[in-house]
Amino acid sequence: MSLFATKPIAALRAEAETMSERSLRRTLGPLHLTALGVGAIIGAGIFVLTGVAAALYAGPAVPVSMVVAGVACGFAGLCYAEMASAVPVAGSAYTYAYATLGEIVAWIIGWDLILEYAMGAATVGVGWSATFVSFLRLVGIDVPGSLASAPLAFCTATQAARGVGGCATAGWHATGALLNLPAVFIILAITAILVIGIRESARFNSLIVIVKTAVLLVFVVAGYRYVQAANWQPFIPPNTGVFGEFGWSGVLRGSGLIFFAYIGFDAVSTAAQEARNPQKDMPVGILASLGICTLLYCLVSLVLTGMISYKELNVPSPVIMVVERVPQLAWFRPVITLGAVLGLGSTILVMLLGQSRVFYAMSRDGLLGGWAGRVHPRFRTPYLSTIYTGIAVAAFTGLFPIQILGQLVNIGTLLAFVLVCAGVWILRHTRPDLERPFRAPLVPLVPILGILSCLGLMLTLPLDTWIRLLVWLVIGFAIYFAYGRKHSFLTAKDVEERR
Ligand code: ALA
Repeated sequence: MSLFATKPIAALRAEAETMSERSLRRTLGPLHLTALGVGAIIGAGIFVLTGVAAALYAGPAVPVSMVVAGVACGFAGLCYAEMASAVPVAGSAYTYAYATLGEIVAWIIGWDLILEYAMGAATVGVGWSATFVSFLRLVGIDVPGSLASAPLAFCTATQAARGVGGCATAGWHATGALLNLPAVFIILAITAILVIGIRESARFNSLIVIVKTAVLLVFVVAGYRYVQAANWQPFIPPNTGVFGEFGWSGVLRGSGLIFFAYIGFDAVSTAAQEARNPQKDMPVGILASLGICTLLYCLVSLVLTGMISYKELNVPSPVIMVVERVPQLAWFRPVITLGAVLGLGSTILVMLLGQSRVFYAMSRDGLLGGWAGRVHPRFRTPYLSTIYTGIAVAAFTGLFPIQILGQLVNIGTLLAFVLVCAGVWILRHTRPDLERPFRAPLVPLVPILGILSCLGLMLTLPLDTWIRLLVWLVIGFAIYFAYGRKHSFLTAKDVEERR
């Protein structure tokens, strides 16, 4: 069997229709799906990373970085929407690649998606922990730093040379902390919710999405009155002479980081098999959630950089910090902190949901062991893959710092986006006849722009991150050749039938 054998789309659709013991319930409508998207999108990116992007790279021009990252996601989003409507089954980019680019590419995307979903959940777990600790402080409980931060940290050679962030030597070192306990706790708690059931999870998620969108809107309306136009001057601070430190290169590097804030819209597509009418509702869910978030992010980051000088924003919870600085907004402090705690929790939920569904799809194809596809007889959720994912993510979130996790997430996700855009383009040639309830406009221009803009954002990320990605992919190839290739359910007959 060729490494590039593809899975017949008719077989994928038939699989999605079969309501067998192993299948999932179809309970999600367009509103649920949009909420699922917004639930995944708004998280640590806007609440945490906006400040870092403004303080270190883009200055008050961080909304421009937001728009650049949003536009790149828009191209990828249109491609995801076409794929999700043509191949409406669980598994996201992994399934699309199986239908279009061949088994080995599908495996690599599935493997790469672990960086997006599992590492994404771990990253937001760290952000959640910082926000939760602020919340506890508000109610008079002080959590010692050694129990709420990463025991491991990594210094790049440049950081070590400049002595920034407590770095003396390059490489990994112990920080003296024991474990990020709140982060571990939230991952395990959400894993338990996901095991109980998708409908219950979606309801819980919709409620929290309303809460976090509302707190950000209130932040914009309440905070706008305290904006001082002087803080927006100069809008793009002059470049310091180092690529990526302010100036236009800083705006671009800001986009590479803030891209994290948009990750998640594609998680909607992982729930295709649980959507009532995937053909129509998946594109609505993906594009609506992306549009809503772009608008909200630009408003929030404008108000944020208007209320305080961007130079002061390199803190763990910048949005909460500016609210704390304005005495008249004291009433809003507990509200926004609690909103962020709940909001980041719902992001983790969608990421963990996405991960277990990708494992489910890979196991159904034989590329992973049968355990990952086992559906609980009563809850009808892929409970084993959910539990194992939860345990692994808890270990990462408890041990590693947010920057390392976040950069890996960004590069892994961007790679998946590039491959999905390529898949749409290829599929238009190889299967022009395929029914596509949603067609991306201006193909091949849109997929090409998607590929170029995502590759461009990848280039803004540090070399260390590229090396980690390569190591991860090599491990993935090794597992594929040792296991997946031998156990794949894709038969010569399937491939023959397609011809
Ligand atoms: N977009 C998600 C967040 O910002 C991953 O947390």
